[in-house]
Amino acid sequence: MRAVDLILKKRAGQTLGADEIDFFIRGYASGQVPDYQAAALAMAVYFRGMDAEETLALTRSMMTTGEVLDLSALPGPKADKHSTGGVGDKTSLVLAPLAAACGLYVPMISGRGLGHTGGTLDKLESIPGFDVHLSLQRFHEVLSRARLALIGQTPEIAPADRKLYALRDVTGTVESRPLIAASIMSKKMAEGIDALVLDVKTGDGAFMRELDDSRALARAMVEIGRGMGRKVAALITDMDQPLGRAVGNALEVEECIETLKGRGPKDTESLSLELCAWMLWLGGISSTLEAARTRARDALASGAGLRKFQEVIELQGGDPRVCDDLTRLPRAQSSIELPAPAEGRLAVLRCRAVGDAAMLLGAGRETLDSRIDPAVGIVLHKKVGDLVLKGEPLLTLRVNDRRRLEAALALLRDAVRVAPEAPAAAPLIRDVIH
Ligand code: URA
Repeated sequence: MRAVDLILKKRAGQTLGADEIDFFIRGYASGQVPDYQAAALAMAVYFRGMDAEETLALTRSMMTTGEVLDLSALPGPKADKHSTGGVGDKTSLVLAPLAAACGLYVPMISGRGLGHTGGTLDKLESIPGFDVHLSLQRFHEVLSRARLALIGQTPEIAPADRKLYALRDVTGTVESRPLIAASIMSKKMAEGIDALVLDVKTGDGAFMRELDDSRALARAMVEIGRGMGRKVAALITDMDQPLGRAVGNALEVEECIETLKGRGPKDTESLSLELCAWMLWLGGISSTLEAARTRARDALASGAGLRKFQEVIELQGGDPRVCDDLTRLPRAQSSIELPAPAEGRLAVLRCRAVGDAAMLLGAGRETLDSRIDPAVGIVLHKKVGDLVLKGEPLLTLRVNDRRRLEAALALLRDAVRVAPEAPAAAPLIRDVIH
């Protein structure tokens, strides 16, 4: 078999066999297939696509270039959640402790933020001392003790995807549905989980802006899960405006702690509870989705979720006192408010622009090696549909470095529109693919 023949075959729009895909991916992971051939194949897939069987084979091959965790010794179901990424998208830090408090094992391997989107790891690292770089052995220990461990991608997990994703990033081949689906699922399926809930974002701040594209990506990933004998469901959720009120790492941790105390914004709370309920149901902790919803709500109301979060913070070297004393989280030096230009209702709050403005303030990364400032970000005082008075603050920027403040403010001024009437905000959950 030769790599070039497989490129030609895909370029001609033909279907690759599982053995061919495996040959190519293994060769790429080991260095026998060079970057330029992998880039050519990725481009051919970008234009010609892959069917469900090819996508499943690609996922399997990428997954098995690395370690697949064996968590069978843990006495209970294991489940996780994955989000395709958004702005203020912080549900992991609420739902993971809730699900663990309800009896699920949650081995969560997360990523960092890039561009306008945030990442769970960056949020966790804003908790003083929190270590996201546990060895796989320590990850096991924390998981078996707390039923929850939260770490970053390790080099052992799906190394072919790590290499290919970096290559796709610089060859214009990221936005390919089969490549995205296989990339995400190769990492998630390597976690050794029985069930996975996908939060596929849709709208202005999402990777896939159109609902139909988000649905198609969700279907592709649910299909892969089924092909691998795991229970997978996808909720398609709104990203036309940021989730909750906080955008920025420590600010989002603060919102999560408030949510675990029952005082969070309604959208953050309800999406976290719903995703948690799906995890509990698919994981077999609850026999119906309704029972799972009740169980998740009870774990929130009793404070069990908050106690679980405190426990895991401590086990991973962080300062658990942040849960009782939010001033222990990093705080920005100054605050600048953006006043409403007129009286009326907030009609538009462009999600991507809010994410970009937060990135300019230092809350996110422009490139993979940018440094982030955990304290800075944006707090929203109004959401789409809310009544506003002229001059009333729409949002507050929390700032340390003022060098790009004007650019951030300009983006935000353009991102909001106040009108006499506002359309009702889109429903938070747009569809479910199961
Ligand atoms: N996230 C991933 O992990 N892979 C992709 O291809 C896109 C988003």
